[in-house]
Amino acid sequence: MSLNARLDAMTDHTFRRLAALLADIQPRANVPPINLSVGEPTHQPPPFVSEILARPRSDWNIYPMYFGTPELRRACAAWATRRYRLPATAIDPDQMIVPVSGTREGLYFAATLAVTPAANGQRPLALMPNPFYQVYYGAAVMAGAEPAFLPATKATGFLPDFDAVDPAVLDRAQVVYLCSPANPQGAVASLDYLKRLLTLARKHDFLLVMDECYSELYYTKEPAPGGLDAAKALGGSLDNLLVFHSLSKRSSAPGLRSGFATGAPKTIALMNRLRSYSAAAQPLAIMEASAACWKDEEHVEKMRAHYRALYDIAERVLKGRFGFYRPDGGFYLWLDVGDGEAACKRLWGEAAVRVLPGSYMTRANPDGSNDGAPYIRVALVGDRESTEEALTRMARVL
Ligand SMILES: Cc1ncc(COP(=O)(O)O)c(C=O)c1O
Repeated sequence: MSLNARLDAMTDHTFRRLAALLADIQPRANVPPINLSVGEPTHQPPPFVSEILARPRSDWNIYPMYFGTPELRRACAAWATRRYRLPATAIDPDQMIVPVSGTREGLYFAATLAVTPAANGQRPLALMPNPFYQVYYGAAVMAGAEPAFLPATKATGFLPDFDAVDPAVLDRAQVVYLCSPANPQGAVASLDYLKRLLTLARKHDFLLVMDECYSELYYTKEPAPGGLDAAKALGGSLDNLLVFHSLSKRSSAPGLRSGFATGAPKTIALMNRLRSYSAAAQPLAIMEASAACWKDEEHVEKMRAHYRALYDIAERVLKGRFGFYRPDGGFYLWLDVGDGEAACKRLWGEAAVRVLPGSYMTRANPDGSNDGAPYIRVALVGDRESTEEALTRMARVL
């Protein structure tokens, strides 16, 4: 593939498209603009993060290692063991944990790990839900795979229906991305769903990459199930599975750029090898603050309560309109407004509220229709007051 063809394939970033869409629109001037287009929490991480980072240190002369400190790896493994009620020895922190500088980086590398040229000359497939997090797409293209999009619409419970995928497609797939709780729809895959998918991964020998960066933002009675639950239920092996967890949403700390992946020792060994060539290791101070975050649940419980309160406000203001529903997880609203782009322009112009057109997270179907086109994504990331204000303005304008 020539550089130009690659450049064309790497389509424009979601937020550049949004900036272009709204460039010529003046937001209504007599109210403060409110930005609900980006999944970036506006409240602070727990105070100990800043305290740790502000301490004088004598290790800035040291190259941090890409595989992280033993303390951080142990904190990640211990958290996953507690969270998914795994046997104490299920996750060896030295062989089955790799810290990443934000899961975006790791999700990108996952395709590079998994995709190899097929012996029969056929381009390997990378399967992903539609709508999708753009990194899955970019990672697939740059790894040399053909991205294939699986509808995750209201009709499929907002998750891809893997039982409907042709086994020949699954045979060609080398990497499959799934986000649960899903961005943007907030659907949570059940344990049964995840077990079936992991079983398919093993049968058709693809790497199942679970993007679980919203795993701690669940509003169900039981915590959202994850890839580690499925692996446990199927006997404990993490073969064909790579699970990502992040502090960006869990601890409201996207600025730390901190997450980790867990998988089978051979998968993690390859990830470490790859990162040894390519990745920026986290600074030691960040590793220390990250370990402290993984050890603490109190701030996470408070955060879930905060998001629950924002959904209460949303339900009060929007119930019965735009297909409003309370999702099981995440921090988004996925609203059916008829024409997402048009609504987005009106909301910016007439309400000074910035949201994302659903079609900027979806690919058109082969027949040209776009399942995301009727939707907008609204990130509930503000405080209660600004959320109420923004949603009330939205309800008035649309
Ligand atoms: C679906 C999804 N996956 C992954 C990420 C990346 O998170 P991180 O901050 O850990 O890189 C995000 C961030 O917005 C996301 O929405």
